[in-house]
Formats: sequence, structure tokens, C-alpha cells
Amino acid sequence: MGLATRKARLGIFVGVKGRGSNMSAIADACTAGHIPAEVAVVIGQVSGSPALEKARSMGLKTEVVSSKEAQYGPLLIKKLQEASVDLVCLAGYMRILPSEVVDEYQGRTLNIHPALLPKFGGQGMYGSHVHQAVLDAGESESGCTVHVVNNVYDEGEIVLQRTCPVLPNDTVESLSSRVLAEEHLAYPAAIELVWNRINTYQA
Ligand code: GRF
Repeated sequence: MGLATRKARLGIFVGVKGRGSNMSAIADACTAGHIPAEVAVVIGQVSGSPALEKARSMGLKTEVVSSKEAQYGPLLIKKLQEASVDLVCLAGYMRILPSEVVDEYQGRTLNIHPALLPKFGGQGMYGSHVHQAVLDAGESESGCTVHVVNNVYDEGEIVLQRTCPVLPNDTVESLSSRVLAEEHLAYPAAIELVWNRINTYQA
């Protein structure tokens, strides 16, 4: 553990279709004491989504807020405040986060992207599209990026990247699973980094 004097309380946003593997990697790192953090709440948009089911099965506190709600942004902030969240982590959340949330948690909201930004980012670059684009470009290396969230897709400050090779016979599936293994290491490490940074500046 690093400089942090208390554990960061994490609010993890999962997507409708996401598996929740980053969410569970973060939660496992917290439980194992590898990072100075704890999962305060996992927020999804649809009650039966796989990632929310997984969070429930892990005994984590979950909340459902439909993105169709007129007051979606303020409702999210309410849930985050009720859980005393310090850091917001987007993990498979495929939307632009409402600007109220970005403003409220400025510099304290992270996202993970399955490529080495600034390459292969932006609108439409998600899931298999990213890995297909990496393969089409003939890259010899890919990886993942944890970045601070602002109001433009994939454009906030880069916190941490991890790389892996692209192999000659790679398919979207083989490349994405190699990148995913790096994501599961990168996200907890980035959370620790940002939390230590916040505590250093506040000290
Ligand atoms: C990951 O590949 C992540 O990089 C992207 O969405 C995917 C979510 O996967 N933002 P999971 O739900 O964490 O398994």
C-alpha cells in the first residue's frame, strides 16, 4: 500500500451488456488488500444485467438507475453521495457520463479503454471494434489505458497503460482476452495511483 491514509470508497458504473470482469477484478484487489480501496456501490442501468448480478453474487451493494430517467445525472450523484464515494470507476459503461457527474467528480472519475490511447479511441471505438481496428492497422502491440473522464469520449488525462503483443495469428477474440488480462491489473493499479495523488495534494 502507498500513501493513502484511508481507503478510497469506489463507485463502479457497469454497462448493460458488460461481463463485469473489471468490476470484479477491482473488488478482488480491494478484498485482498492489494489496494487502499473498498467498493462502496456498483451502479447499473438494468436490474438483471450480468455485471450487476455478478456484483450481487459477490455481496457488493448495488443500485439501479435507468438512463431513461429524466433526472439521470442528479440521481446518479445522489446514489454516489449516499454511498460516500470518493472515486468513480467506469467499467464497461458505454455511455457519455452525464456532465453533472463529470463536474461533481472532476479528476476523480476513471475509465478503462481496451487499447493504447490516443490511438483507437473515440465514439464507435468499443468492444470488438477496437481490437478489429488494431488488427487491421497491423499493430505489433496493443494494451489498455486507464484515463480520467471528461466530456469527450476517451480524451481525459492518461493515468496508466499496460501493453501486450499482437501476435501474427491473432483474432479479435484472442487479442481481446490478452488485453483483458492487462485491464484487470491496470485498473486496480490506476485506482491506487490516483488515490495516492489526491491524498498527496490534500496533505
Ligand atoms: C472492457 O474491455 C473495457 O475496456 C471496456 O469495456 C469492457 C468491459 O468489460 N471499457 P467487463 O464488463 O469489465 O468485463
